[in-house]
Amino acid sequence: MIIRYLGMEKRVVPRWLATLLLVAGVGLVVFASWTLSLRVLVKLKTKELLKANEELKQLNEEIMAQQQELSALNEQLEDTYARLESSLKRFNDMLSFLSSISPDVSRERFYAMFLSAVQRFDTNALVALVNGRDCYFLNEGSMNKVETARSAPFDSKDELVGLLKKALGTNFERVVYEVSGNGETALLFLYRDVAVRCVEDDLVKALCSVLTIYTKLKEHEETLTTLSEGVSHAFLKALEFHEHHTVKHSETVKEYAVKMARKLGLDERQVRLISCAALLHDLGKLAVPSAVLNKPGKLSPDELQLVKQHPTIAAEIIQHIKGLEEVAKIVRHHHERWDGKGYPDGLSGEEIPLGARILCIADAFEAMTSNRPYRKAMSISEAVSELINNAGEQFDPNLVQIFLEILKEEGVSVVEG
Ligand SMILES: [Fe+2]
Repeated sequence: MIIRYLGMEKRVVPRWLATLLLVAGVGLVVFASWTLSLRVLVKLKTKELLKANEELKQLNEEIMAQQQELSALNEQLEDTYARLESSLKRFNDMLSFLSSISPDVSRERFYAMFLSAVQRFDTNALVALVNGRDCYFLNEGSMNKVETARSAPFDSKDELVGLLKKALGTNFERVVYEVSGNGETALLFLYRDVAVRCVEDDLVKALCSVLTIYTKLKEHEETLTTLSEGVSHAFLKALEFHEHHTVKHSETVKEYAVKMARKLGLDERQVRLISCAALLHDLGKLAVPSAVLNKPGKLSPDELQLVKQHPTIAAEIIQHIKGLEEVAKIVRHHHERWDGKGYPDGLSGEEIPLGARILCIADAFEAMTSNRPYRKAMSISEAVSELINNAGEQFDPNLVQIFLEILKEEGVSVVEG
């Protein structure tokens, strides 16, 4: 039919042209169909790509959101870590502070250390503590003390806060505080700004317990000190019946020894031990007959030997009293000499306990400047010369210098060399 249509039958168009046209027509149809199917395919693929792109975009948004969440979590973690680190540091500070607590530290020194350690838990607060009538707080790093209007125990916590606001002359919007069970001690965190985050109640409670423990320790220590001073004075009184000048001598030796100990910067506990040793240093003379101790003339060698036993006897008596063991050591060695020629053990130099070396100078100076049954008192300048001449032999030369400095500070004319 196509051949007929193209007139190939009648040979209007040559056969080769008709074949060419036929092939071209078929080719055209195939090309058109291919192009059409290609377009449909491209359209389909484009749609798929768009869909995939949309999914990708959505996925990307999810990832971004997760990233943001992770970043926020990371920030929270960093913040928590920083707070943990800071808490750990404060905790360590507090531990090292707690390990340094000793009843030998004076109340005011302890309160300053305590407030300084506690302040680190919340630098926004004004931290104050109340003990009895006194209120202590730190202001720009230095300790301040004010008196509340009345003594503890306070009728109520509000009363305490009211008194404190009045004493400090300022108003506080917020107060976190704890009062000890007996109402004697209180710890307060005071805030001027109500919006500031406050310290935790439990922490204040724990810190107040530390304060209470120290206060009880201190009271216990003070009772022990009073008791040992009472015992020392009782012994001294007994000795006074035996050797007439003992009380005055021992009291003066104590004054000199305490001044030396303080000038050397010894802590209060050591000062107290030296003070007690000064009062008791001649206690062993109880074992020496009164006639020997008060003999106006020179002692015989046997009598001298008897007198020389007094440091050992005193130490033996004292060492059985709990808390006075170190005092016994000082007393035992107060007649040792720097050059090792003393008694009872012939110790030399720094082998001799520091307290005993101090006592040795204080004892000698007091003895030299006082009248005795067997001799008249030396003048101050003669006694000073004796100390200087015997420095490095009988006495610790450095301590002699310390003693001379004390005398100079007190207006005593000291001519050295
Ligand atoms: Fe003595």
